[in-house]
Amino acid sequence: MIIAIDGPAASGKGTLGKRLADHFGFAHLDTGLLYRAVARVLLDRDVALTDRDAAARVAQELDVTHLDDERLRGAQMGEAASVISAYQPVRDALLAFQRQFAGQPPGAVLDGRDIGTVVCPHADVKLFITASAEERARRRHRELLSRGETTDYEIILNDIRRRDERDMTRSNAPLKAADDALTLDTTHLDADQAFQAALELVTRKQT
Ligand code: DC
Repeated sequence: MIIAIDGPAASGKGTLGKRLADHFGFAHLDTGLLYRAVARVLLDRDVALTDRDAAARVAQELDVTHLDDERLRGAQMGEAASVISAYQPVRDALLAFQRQFAGQPPGAVLDGRDIGTVVCPHADVKLFITASAEERARRRHRELLSRGETTDYEIILNDIRRRDERDMTRSNAPLKAADDALTLDTTHLDADQAFQAALELVTRKQT
């Protein structure tokens, strides 16, 4: 059983994916962390994010057992991940691991940008999670503040808009809903309501 969740930055798909996975006893992979981990290695080595070959090499050699570093979740890493994720060789290098993860019994939940369209086109359930850019910026702002990062709402909103634009218009696996995805707009839902709504969609699809 595979549940594919896609959506733009800060749409809440990671939280939702984790809760659905816990509910069903499935494994959960936030695939954004893979791209963030590649970006982290490049930044740590002072390699320019425009160096496609270096990014591809790092992706091929990525140690996927170290995705729990809190630093990966920062705003700078998200921005850098968005840049290097546009390179097809980087995406290719991360594909096998994601598919292997998706295949584990009894099931897996993967969230990202291209799970329903590229990574798991045959997923049992595909959800596309959206929310207005303003609401996503408010959530991200709260989250970053709670982790002690000093941030400005307007800057975050601009970052989110820029990231949406880049993720949706790139030629390689752009962010878009799969034809058979169920869309859930969480603009007016809190985390519990979003989870209940998603659970209903998954259950309805299963029966
Ligand atoms: O979900 P996130 O904000 O952690 O993702 C960071 C960046 O990684 C995002 O801007 C685009 C890229 N990404 C991707 O291209 N494909 C995925 N499946 C997940 C993330």
